[in-house]
Amino acid sequence: MKQRILFVCLGNICRSPAAEAMMQSLVDSRGLHDEIYLDSAGTYGGHAGERADARMRRAAAARGIDITHRSRQVREEDFERFDMVIAMDDNNYEALFRLAPSREAQFKIFRFREFLRRHPDWSYIPDPYYEGHEGFELVLDLLEDGCATLLSEIEQK
Ligand code: 4NP
Repeated sequence: MKQRILFVCLGNICRSPAAEAMMQSLVDSRGLHDEIYLDSAGTYGGHAGERADARMRRAAAARGIDITHRSRQVREEDFERFDMVIAMDDNNYEALFRLAPSREAQFKIFRFREFLRRHPDWSYIPDPYYEGHEGFELVLDLLEDGCATLLSEIEQK
């Protein structure tokens, strides 16, 4: 059965669209695009309709990742449409927990940190919005780590 995964951050213009695009690139490279459906959303809707932050698009492009997503706010129906809803940090997690319409829906929420293997010092994906270039590079390093784990866990199912 097709796995449907939603990545969620605050604005849906930096971390979660990068996670979606990076995971999509891994999924495509394994020929799994019929198996796995990906999307991303933000707990805050203030950037709805916008493309990802140009700094994130540039940093991702340098790693061969093309981010084409347009920002949207997460909504209650997403808990019906997706099997896993993956939060970038604890604030996102708590906002999703409040939005989830049922206990079953709450069980679909994960923290991205659960998939980190090579970055034991990081318990969340830090918001790069007010950071310099290094902040975006750090986010991409963490996303590479977690997306690789997520893919291998799905492949083992
Ligand atoms: P993101 O980064 O949650 O990774 O997309 C942010 C984008 C925008 C804002 C905060 C974080 N903002 O406050 O507008």
